[in-house]
Amino acid sequence: MQICVIGTGYVGLVVGTCMADMGFTVVCVDRDAEKIARLRAGRLPIYEPGLEDILRRTVRKERLSFSTEAPSSIAQADVVYIAVGTPSRDDGACDLSAVHAVADEIGRALARPTTVVIKSTVPVGTADTVRTRIAANAKHDFDVVSNPEFLKEGAAVDDFTHPDRIVVGCSSPESVEVMQRLYAGLVRTGRPIVFMDNRSAELTKYASNALLATKISFMNELARLCDAVGADIEAVRLGAGSDSRIGPRFLFAGVGFGGSCFPKDIRALRYQGEAAGVSLQIPAAVEAVNVAQKRVLADAVLKRFGPDLSDRTLGVWGLAFKPRTDDIREAPAMVIIQMLLDAGATIQAYDPEAMDAARAVIDDMPGGQRVRFAASPLRAAEGVDALLVVTEWAEFRNPDLAALSSAMAEPVIFDGRNIYLPDAMAEAGFDYYGIGRRK
Ligand SMILES: NC(=O)c1ccc[n+]([C@@H]2O[C@H](COP(=O)([O-])OP(=O)(O)OC[C@H]3O[C@@H](n4cnc5c(N)ncnc54)[C@H](O)[C@@H]3O)[C@@H](O)[C@H]2O)c1
Repeated sequence: MQICVIGTGYVGLVVGTCMADMGFTVVCVDRDAEKIARLRAGRLPIYEPGLEDILRRTVRKERLSFSTEAPSSIAQADVVYIAVGTPSRDDGACDLSAVHAVADEIGRALARPTTVVIKSTVPVGTADTVRTRIAANAKHDFDVVSNPEFLKEGAAVDDFTHPDRIVVGCSSPESVEVMQRLYAGLVRTGRPIVFMDNRSAELTKYASNALLATKISFMNELARLCDAVGADIEAVRLGAGSDSRIGPRFLFAGVGFGGSCFPKDIRALRYQGEAAGVSLQIPAAVEAVNVAQKRVLADAVLKRFGPDLSDRTLGVWGLAFKPRTDDIREAPAMVIIQMLLDAGATIQAYDPEAMDAARAVIDDMPGGQRVRFAASPLRAAEGVDALLVVTEWAEFRNPDLAALSSAMAEPVIFDGRNIYLPDAMAEAGFDYYGIGRRK
């Protein structure tokens, strides 16, 4: 089967590359000519562990190619994936303009019976709209399948190739067969392909992200209660998470969730509820808690040092919204840095992979010229009045505390991810602030 993937971002690139590695012939299409030129030169436009090796291998074997030409790529494909971005509109709704533009393009370019697979995260009913838009121009048979993606940035290759489950929404037996053939190599260990109707598949993606985000916001809210009543959120997490009905994952209190998915998908879910006359109160609460949580660490700094930070230099470790990615979309670090800049602070920031992406955003922030980017974690800590740990990269987990303490002007740590033990930090002479930790 010939596959065309339209939209070569974090998802489309992983899907296209991994499908090529499974033996399919794949062309990845993007309207961003610079991105396509980089990929043709064998360079990844994003940081994603493990992806570059597979990309080089599949390109060498001539199973993977890149193009800016959607029409000819669509015309040659048996299966066309739509993997373009679906960001938030100002009102919180999902912006479907890229999906609709691609649907129109597919309709005009179809040259054989084709299965159109929607990988992008899209609101309920989008498959029906995509079907109508393609049909307006199509001269060949086609079907529209909803196949939401559950990969995590930072572990995307492994998540795609070893999925917990694959969700497929479609109505025709032919599409069921195509999807079974496409994914046979991914479910050999017995993981299920869960077939359902398009609308249920579309909602399943939002349900999954909302459930995960709910766990995080709930623990963040409890962390605030811990601070108020003298309990320790880490103990509560271990105690509650050991219950097999609850499970240990996604229970870590911190500086709030970011990234290109949870925040926008929570907003889009809430919006879908409103549009359908169903007021979804839990997503609204999850979002409100998260917006407030992104301010908690900077608020703790302001409480410690006072509202005027103009004679303070602060170190920030971690800019990406989570470890093992260079993605800074809706990253808590950006909110924290803006709050510190607003109070007059000078900042020394370090991230192993996200500094280029962060620099582009921070340069445009009010006061952004007061952010210096450091070449190492220790450099970022040199001479600072306090260090904020915002992303839990592995390299931040076991710093040389003596070296760190002597590099800093004052040994004060605001641990936004609870990666250190308060007692060990106190023993090493640090004034330590965690999220919901008992001192
Ligand atoms: N990033 C994730 O971890 C993740 C996980 C699961 C699902 N998703 C969903 O997958 C979708 C894509 O996310 P992403 O993070 O890969 O987005 P992205 O912004 O990284 O990539 C989208 C790509 O689509 C391209 N594009 C936009 N319009 C186009 C058009 N008309 N023709 C050709 N190319 C076009 C853009 O240039 C860009 O390269 C979104 O719906 C997202 O919600 C993302």
